[in-house]
Amino acid sequence: MKTADLLALSPVIPVVVIEDVEHAVPLARALARGGVGVIEVTLRTEAGLEALRRIAAEVPDVVVGAGTVTAPEQTTLCEQAGARFLVTPGASPRVLDAALDTGLPLLPGAATLTEMMTLLEHGLPEMKFFPALPAGGTAYLSAVLGPLPQVRFCPTGGITADNARQFLALPNVACVGGSWLTPKEALLAQDWDRVTQLAAEASTLLV
Ligand code: 3PG
Repeated sequence: MKTADLLALSPVIPVVVIEDVEHAVPLARALARGGVGVIEVTLRTEAGLEALRRIAAEVPDVVVGAGTVTAPEQTTLCEQAGARFLVTPGASPRVLDAALDTGLPLLPGAATLTEMMTLLEHGLPEMKFFPALPAGGTAYLSAVLGPLPQVRFCPTGGITADNARQFLALPNVACVGGSWLTPKEALLAQDWDRVTQLAAEASTLLV
């Protein structure tokens, strides 16, 4: 799979923060029931890597990847855990090289024109635009379209069900990412129906 194919899987890539590994599999199944077959599990929690491993092993029809990859050594661990793609919030040279070495589809983060041009020099035209809202939102991405029309973004950071459509309407936005499909309270309460409902709403965003 190429990164462009990854971005075409769903209008929304859920960015999930899993505190309890026991939530991983029911959460992935709940998203899939709602029509979202891709998940970015962030490495922000202790449970992240094990959660990723369990989803990869037990919910094989869902494409699971690792997010918040910020250290070179994490890339191999994610690959061994079954990650089918890697997402980084920025693109430091060592993390970028280590991520590219795995051969996995890579969605590297960029927020400035210099970072975007650097990724293009590496042959990476698909990028995560993070943090999307604080960095300038839809107005910023529209402005970038002029000089860098070949870049395709997955904006994340502040995207919600209310503003996702505005981002998805831009010609240089392939999909969006966000944590709103998996609210912390829903996970704590193990309210998987709520997650399925939010996923079902999100999966129709391009229709
Ligand atoms: C990410 O890493 O993509 C973001 O933290 C997701 O941002 P959100 O929580 O504002 O959706």
